[in-house]
Amino acid sequence: MDSKRLKGKAAIITGAGSGIGRATAFLFAREGARLVLADLNEGQLDEVITAIKHEKAEVFGKKTDVSREEQVQELVRAATAEYGGIDTVVNNAGTAGDISDPGNQRKDVWEKVFGVNVMGAVYTTKHIAAHMKEKKKGTIVNVASVAGMRSGAGGNAYSASKAALINFTMTSACDLGGYNIRVNAVCPGLIKTGMTKPVFDYAQAKGKEDKLGSRCELLRYGLPEEVAYAILFLAGDESSYITGQALPVDGGNTASLNLPGMKV
Ligand SMILES: NC(=O)c1ccc[n+]([C@@H]2O[C@H](COP(=O)([O-])OP(=O)(O)OC[C@H]3O[C@@H](n4cnc5c(N)ncnc54)[C@H](O)[C@@H]3O)[C@@H](O)[C@H]2O)c1
Repeated sequence: MDSKRLKGKAAIITGAGSGIGRATAFLFAREGARLVLADLNEGQLDEVITAIKHEKAEVFGKKTDVSREEQVQELVRAATAEYGGIDTVVNNAGTAGDISDPGNQRKDVWEKVFGVNVMGAVYTTKHIAAHMKEKKKGTIVNVASVAGMRSGAGGNAYSASKAALINFTMTSACDLGGYNIRVNAVCPGLIKTGMTKPVFDYAQAKGKEDKLGSRCELLRYGLPEEVAYAILFLAGDESSYITGQALPVDGGNTASLNLPGMKV
């Protein structure tokens, strides 16, 4: 028996040029998926596609800004035309915005962060839903964040966008469940990627990289591959009775009241 979990399935992954999206693309390729990879950064996207082709997986890419509906629509059109349908979509593309106090919010930052982190997933879901409904099957995995569940893991706009994405996951799961389309989210904690590079660079400069992530129960930060495995589970058939859920992949961070003031 072939043990490849995504054999014969076609998947779109956004933000596949770096970090969690890149790791997910490689894992999905190893698990037999045919891939459509999208990213704003064409250079990084091409590099991932070339590497995946070397592993003999079926893959093509499309430079896409997920905050632009017409580009997402074209991505979905090209993907469904190439593979005759899409079984799974991973809405992973994301942007961090900046960190500012509630009295100093910038409209352009909020619009950009919501445009990518929320509307990106809204557009892919909107345009893939018709195809999946017709086939009466499909999975969507949204990459949210622990920042959408608690404060203290990002700026206001970023946290609010990820909370919106978690709720959009739930409402989409309810709207699409009757068509056998499952929608779930993963909520990563601190993961070493392009997005968190400034945090890691800062800690390294201070000689404190080993302290990063030490407030979570596993006492370390996570790697992109550890999130990719959770995405794989929610995208594939092994999670067939799970929908509308937001799964923390955070070393136990959200499970605890690990407050600095309570430590002796
Ligand atoms: N790294 C973490 O600690 C962490 C924690 C929680 C959630 N996340 C989420 O994980 C997801 C992946 O981020 P990452 O940490 O791998 O960061 P990353 O910066 O390494 O990768 C993000 C990718 O998204 C792409 N992207 C950004 N804006 C885009 C747009 N408008 N259209 C298309 N692509 C776009 C970037 O070019 C990049 O390749 C994001 O949604 C992020 O919010 C990350």
